[in-house]
This record gives sequence, C-alpha cells and structure tokens, in this order.
Amino acid sequence: MTIPDLLKHSQQQIQADLQFCLDQFALTSPLKEAVHHAVMLGGKRVRPALCYATAELNQLEKTSELFNPAVRRAAVAVELIHCYSLCHDDLPCMDNDALRRGQPTCHVAFGESTALLAGDVLQSIAFEVLGSRLFDDMQSIDKLSIENTQHNDQIRLRQMQILATASSKMVNGQVMDLQAEGKLVDQDHLEQIHLNKTGALIQAAIMMGAVTVLPKADQDFTALRQFGRALGLAFQVQDDILDITADTEVLGKTAGKDQQVEKSTYPALMGLDNAQHYAQQLHDQAMDALKTMQGNTQALHTIAEFLLTRQS
Ligand code: IPE
Ligand code: IPE
Ligand code: MG
Ligand code: MG
Ligand code: MG
Repeated sequence: MTIPDLLKHSQQQIQADLQFCLDQFALTSPLKEAVHHAVMLGGKRVRPALCYATAELNQLEKTSELFNPAVRRAAVAVELIHCYSLCHDDLPCMDNDALRRGQPTCHVAFGESTALLAGDVLQSIAFEVLGSRLFDDMQSIDKLSIENTQHNDQIRLRQMQILATASSKMVNGQVMDLQAEGKLVDQDHLEQIHLNKTGALIQAAIMMGAVTVLPKADQDFTALRQFGRALGLAFQVQDDILDITADTEVLGKTAGKDQQVEKSTYPALMGLDNAQHYAQQLHDQAMDALKTMQGNTQALHTIAEFLLTRQS
C-alpha cells in the first residue's frame, strides 16, 4: 500500500469505530456536541494507524479487512486520550489556542467549562471502551474456551496498563512543558518533556497493538519499544519544526505560536537546521530498530516515512 492509501484506510476504520463508540454513551447536551467536535472533526489519526500497523506484524500479507476487536478498541482508546489531551492543551490556562484541526478549538466553540469536561469524559470513555466487549462477535465469544477468554482478558489488562501509564506521562510532560515556558532548558530536559508529553502516547499506540500479536518474551518487543521511543520523540521535534515552517492553513493550528509564548522547543534550543537534522537522526534510529525485527514491518515502515515528510 502507498502512504496515502494506508493512512486513508486507517482513517476510514477509526472514523467509523470512534463514531460507533461515542454513540454508545448517552452524553447530555452540550457535552455531546463538544465531544463530537473534539473527536470527530479531522486529525491525521496517526496513533490508530500505528496501532493497526503493529497488529499486522504477524501477517505476511494482510488477509482480512477487519482488525481484531482488541486492536480496534485499543485504536479508539488511544485516539480518545489524544483528543482529550488536545482539548485540554488548547485551553486558555494551557497553550491558549483558538484553532485546532482547522476548526475553532473546543473551548472557543463551547466555552471553557464544557471543553474541560469534554476532555474529562473522553478520558473515562477511553478506558470504558478498553474494558468493554465492543466490536466482539458475541456468537463466537459464547463458544470461546475459558483459556481463550483468560487470554483475551490478559491482553485487555495489559492494554489498560500501557494506556494508563502513557496518559499519566502525558500529563507529567504537559506540566513540564508549561514550567519550561520562557526558560532555557538543556537538551536532556527538553527530551524528557517531549518523551513524556507526546512520545509516551505514540509508543503506547504501538505497544497496545503489539500485545495482541506478540508473546511477552518476544524479542521484537524490545525493538518495538525502541522504535516507538525514537518515533515518538521525532514526532514532537517535527511538531516544533512545523510550528515555524508551515502555514496556519495547512497546519490547521496557529503557526508561530511556540515562539510567541517562548516555548522550550528543539528549534529554540538548537536552531531550525539542527532540529531538522535531529529529526532525521531519530527517524534513522527508529528505522534501525525496525530492521532488527522478525515480523512484517511494512506498514510501520510506511507510516514512519510519512511522518518524516509530513506537512501538518
Ligand atoms: C498534535 O498531534 C499534538 C502533538 C502531540 C504533537 P497530531 O499532530 O497527531 O494532531 P492531529 O491528531 O493530527 O490533529
Ligand atoms: C502537545 O504539544 C502535547 C499534548 C499532549 C497535546 P503541543 O502543545 O506542541 O501540541 P500542538 O502544537 O498544540 O498541537
Ligand atoms: Mg502544549
Ligand atoms: Mg499546544
Ligand atoms: Mg506544537
């Protein structure tokens, strides 16, 4: 599959699954509309795409159009946590942004208290989805042996642990990010901010897919973690770069915002050229990790290539 094909395919799948999941929850107005706004309108859906791509590791070629239910729930859950993080990130008490995914931010459209609560409820819904039987084929579930049911529940538990750990890292990273505004921080410190606020969730998307297909002791696990760490860090370095190099219209968020509020970013720390070079280095590190793996890494490879050259 080409890059646009693969992403388009993932986007269609996640769009339908997100809508299906949100429809299961009886949210009251205007929370319902605010949640719809924060989740359904745009977004590259990179984290779900990574989750699906990892779940393809044990397939020589893609045999079925539908991913298994545990992968689909994980992709929905990680995207919901991401949407909640964006909704809160844009609040006046945080980055104070008016534009997100080419739309007014959630608090601009619905007011601060509703946007805050939309983020809160998205966090709960994410874990409720992971713990649920959504997407399971109930007829075949009835026939599952106790052993299989236990195996599925183990996967579910590990996915919950991975997502919960990454979500609290994200919050830690956001605190560090705000604390570092207007300050000079060294590269180690900046790396910790970026790994926490963004890298952790990207790595989690990969590992939540991985637990559905790889046994715990598999050596591909370690390689995947390294891949996810490098890719996640590269993603935020690239986000910092795009804030300078991209136009607001293409970006779908206000360009030049980081400089305005003196955020600690890679271009601010080392200059734009060096930051671009560093993003390439991290990409190479990610690719090196993939090369050591036994499974089918084609889809992960394709997404990593797309991320390096993305314009928004
Ligand atoms: C933006 O993430 C915020 C970061 C963590 C860097 P994305 O670039 O994945 O945003 P969407 O989901 O495509 O809007
Ligand atoms: C976002 O970092 C990290 C999150 C946890 C949302 P940014 O603040 O740089 O993300 P954008 O640029 O607003 O999307
Ligand atoms: Mg921020
Ligand atoms: Mg922001
Ligand atoms: Mg940014």
